[in-house]
Amino acid sequence: MSTVLDIASLEAELADKSPQAILEKALSLVDDIYISFSGAEDVVLIDMAHKIKKDIKVFSLDTGRLHPETYQYIDRVRKHYGITIEVMSPDTAALEKFTQEKGFYSFYEDGHKECCNVRKVDPLRRKLATIDGWITGQRQDQNPSTRGKVPVVQADPGFSGPGKNLVKFNPLSNWSSEETWLYIRTWEVPYNPLHERGFVSIGCEPCTRPVLPNQHEREGRWWWEDATKKECGLHAMNQK
Ligand code: ADX
Ligand code: SF4
Repeated sequence: MSTVLDIASLEAELADKSPQAILEKALSLVDDIYISFSGAEDVVLIDMAHKIKKDIKVFSLDTGRLHPETYQYIDRVRKHYGITIEVMSPDTAALEKFTQEKGFYSFYEDGHKECCNVRKVDPLRRKLATIDGWITGQRQDQNPSTRGKVPVVQADPGFSGPGKNLVKFNPLSNWSSEETWLYIRTWEVPYNPLHERGFVSIGCEPCTRPVLPNQHEREGRWWWEDATKKECGLHAMNQK
């Protein structure tokens, strides 16, 4: 049985702390804790954590549909920090069944849920069931309709494994996109080159597009769907 943290007091303690202070607390409090790295500007978590301690744990969900630039970038981050990035892949049988039945682009016709479940959520569930904590790059400003209330720390029972009390830290929750990018430039953090081509929020290649100046970043994701549905299930609790 993993330790039960008092999430409410922890949240009260960390709510207005810096991302670095939240990360430091997360890394010292929870033994088996991973940063969930998407290959976008959430790289700041890796940079901050690496400045706290060198042996950080990181995983990425390889959906099989990321941009070539993102695959190259994930490798660059791995080398830059000298870290291992655990790559989670979709279950072979489930993926084969899905692509045989629905092909490669069914999400444009009947929504992204089914594909995201096979390629992202099930592999995430498999990983999270074995660990005690995860750290995400979610920010409130990324999607006011689904992330406007994302706390800096929360219990994550939906993804907890048996006998575990999974805790989820969102150290960047109160940071803006501007603050995140100021950090990247100040510390010369390597970033995904897609950002230089108008991509702000980056996910899978068929479901991500660049945005126009002043267009909200989330409009570049699953643009054929309603704003309130623009979560893929990784952060399902945001929609409850
Ligand atoms: S998503 O739910 O819409 O795909 P988003 O791209 O905004 O999420 O990323 C928010 C956070 O979710 C990231 O900072 C990261 O922690 C996690 N995340 C998203 N996609 C991945 C991925 N492919 N691998 C690992 N973590 C991811
Ligand atoms: Fe599939 Fe698009 Fe979801 Fe990626 S973002 S898993 S391609 S529906």
